[in-house]
Amino acid sequence: MKNNDLRQSRIKGALKVYKVLYDTDKLVVILQFPAALLRAIRPYIVLFATAYILDGFLKGHTYENLLYIALGAVLLGFAVDLLEGYIDKIHQVRNDVCISRIYMTKEEKNMTLDYQLLESPVVNNIKARIARDNRWSSGFWTASFFLKELLDSFFGFIVGTAVIITFFQSNDISGGIIFLAILLVFAGITSIIYSKVLQAKLTEHLNTENPKYDTKYQFYFIYGSAISNILKTARIYNVKKLLSGYLEEDERRQDDFCKVHTRYTGASGFVGALTSGISTVSSYLFIVARAVAGAISVSDVVQYAGTIYNMVNSFYRLSAAITNLVWQTERIQGMLEFMEIENILHKGTLPVEKRRDNQYAIEFHDVSFKYPGSDDYSLRNFSIKLNIGQKLAIVGMNGSGKTTMIKLLCRLYDPSEGMITLNGIDIKKYDYAEYISIFSVVFQDFKMFSFKLSENIACSTEIDSMRMAKVIDMVGLSERTEKMQSGFDTYLYNDFDKGVEISGGEAQKIALARALYKNAPFIVLDEPTAALDPIAEFEIYSKFNEIVGDKTAIYISHRLSSCRFCDDIAVFHEGELIQRGNHDTLLSDRDGKYFELWNAQAQYYNDKAV
Ligand SMILES: Nc1ncnc2c1ncn2[C@@H]1O[C@H](COP(=O)(O)OP(=O)(O)OP(=O)(O)O)[C@@H](O)[C@H]1O
Ligand SMILES: [Mg+2]
Repeated sequence: MKNNDLRQSRIKGALKVYKVLYDTDKLVVILQFPAALLRAIRPYIVLFATAYILDGFLKGHTYENLLYIALGAVLLGFAVDLLEGYIDKIHQVRNDVCISRIYMTKEEKNMTLDYQLLESPVVNNIKARIARDNRWSSGFWTASFFLKELLDSFFGFIVGTAVIITFFQSNDISGGIIFLAILLVFAGITSIIYSKVLQAKLTEHLNTENPKYDTKYQFYFIYGSAISNILKTARIYNVKKLLSGYLEEDERRQDDFCKVHTRYTGASGFVGALTSGISTVSSYLFIVARAVAGAISVSDVVQYAGTIYNMVNSFYRLSAAITNLVWQTERIQGMLEFMEIENILHKGTLPVEKRRDNQYAIEFHDVSFKYPGSDDYSLRNFSIKLNIGQKLAIVGMNGSGKTTMIKLLCRLYDPSEGMITLNGIDIKKYDYAEYISIFSVVFQDFKMFSFKLSENIACSTEIDSMRMAKVIDMVGLSERTEKMQSGFDTYLYNDFDKGVEISGGEAQKIALARALYKNAPFIVLDEPTAALDPIAEFEIYSKFNEIVGDKTAIYISHRLSSCRFCDDIAVFHEGELIQRGNHDTLLSDRDGKYFELWNAQAQYYNDKAV
C-alpha cells in the first residue's frame, strides 16, 4: 500500500473505532466534548483573575473589591472543576460499561460465526492480534483516552487562539502576529518530529510484534495456570523446558522492546520539553519586551504570556494527539476486523417439516470434501441414504473421514462437491436452527460446561425433571447422581460454585444423556463409549435399542464388536466408503478392510494370543 493510502486507511480505521463507541453509547463520545472545553477554559480563570488583581493593585483599587474578584475566581474555578469532574465521572462509568458491552458483542459473535471460520487460520490470526493488543495497550479501553488527549489539545488551542485574537484586537502589538506565527511553525516542526518520527517508530515496533507469539505466552502463563489438564501434562513432561524456551524468547523481545521504547520515549520527552521550554521563555520574553516598550501593562504580561504558552503548547499537543490517536487505534483494528467477518455458508430459510411420523430421509449424493486450506480430500465420492429408523454403524481407521462426514451432516462445513439432502431438499436451503433441531449429536471431543449437571444435559436452565431422571437412568448415572450433594442440580467442576469433578467415563455418560434428552429424530454418536468401563459399555449396548428407539442412528466406533448389533455397517478408508453390509457379510470378504480390522482387534481376545 502506498503511504498516502496507508494514512487514509488508518484515519478511516480510527474513525470506525469512534463510530463503534458512538453506536454503542453516544454519551461516551459526546460527554468528552463539554469536559474538554471546561478543562480548556479552566486555566484562564486563574490567569485572568491574577492579571485583574495585579492591575487593580497598580491602579489602587480597594482591597475589598479585589478580594471579591479573588473570591469570584475561586468560586468560578470550583464550579468549573465540579462540573468537569461530574461529567468526567459519568463518562468513566459509561465508558467502562460501553467497552464491556463491545467485548461482550465480540463473544456473542463467536457464537454466530460459521464454525469453519472459527477453525480457519485467518480468523485465528485476527484473534491472536486482539489478544496481543489487549496485552500491550488494552485495546478498546484506550480509545476514550486518545480522544480525550485530542479534544483537550484541540479546545486548548481554540480557546487560546480566541483569547489571543481578542488581545491583539484590543492592543496594538507590533510584531505579535509574526512572533506567534514563528512560534507555531516551531511547535509544528517539533510536533512533526515527535509524531511522524518518534511516536510512529515506537508504535510500528509494537504493531510488528508477532501476534501468535503473544497468544502462546498468554495461553501458557495466564490462562494455562487455570487449566488443570494442561498442568498435568506440563508436570509429567517437564513442559517447563518448553515454556522457558518461550519465556527466554519473550524476555529477549521485551528487552528489545524496552530499548526501543526507552530510546524513542526519551527522545519524545526531550522534544516535548524543548518545545514547552522554548515557547514559555520566548512568550514571556516577547510579552515583557512589549511591556517594557510600554505597549502593554504589567498585568497583561501575566495574562498573555501564559495564554501564548497555552496556545502554542496545545498546538504542539494537538498534532501529536492526532498521530497518537491514529496510530494507537490501529491496535483496535483487529477487533473491528473480527466484528466485520461475514459468515460464508449459505443461510437457508426453509422450515423443516414437523412430522409426527418422523419420516425423515437423509441422503449424501456423491459428496467430496476438502477442509479449507487443505489440498487433500478428507471425504471422497460419498453416497449413502438413511431412512427413518435405520441404524448405521461406521468403522474405519483413524483419519478415514468418519467425523468429517458427521461435521458435514451437521453443516459445520458444506461439501466441496456433491450435496446432502433431507427429504429430497438440499440441506443448505433449510433454516439452520430448524435443520439442526432434528439432530442429537455426541461428538468425539464433546465438552461439558461448568454449569449444573442438569443444565449440561438439558442445555437450558429450564429442566423437565421427569425426562431428566429418565435419561440419567438410561445412561447408568442414577446412583452417581444420587450421591452428589444437590442431585442433578449439582454443579460440574468448581468454576462457578462448589461442584463435583467427574471422571472421563462419567462425562461421556452425561454427553450421551444430553443427546437423549434432546430427543431428536436423528441420533449421531461418534465414539460414545470409548471411555466407558466394559460393564457400562455392555449396559449401554444391551439397552441400545431401547435408548435409540425408533430414531435414525449413526454410530461410529473403533470397537467392532460393539457394531455387530447393527445390520448396516459402513467401512471407511482414506475418505471413501469402501464396504457396506452386516457383520457376517463383511466378515466373509477375507480381502476386505473389515476382515482386517476385525481380526486385528479379535486377536487380543483370542485365547491363543494370550
Ligand atoms: N479442521 C480440519 N482441518 C484440516 N484437516 C482436518 C480437519 N479435521 C480433520 N482433518 C483431516 O481430515 C481427515 C479425516 O479426519 P476425521 O476426523 O474425519 O477422521 P476420523 O475417521 O474421524 O478419525 P478418528 O478415528 O481418529 O476419529 C484427517 O486426515 C484429518 O487430519
Ligand atoms: Mg473421528
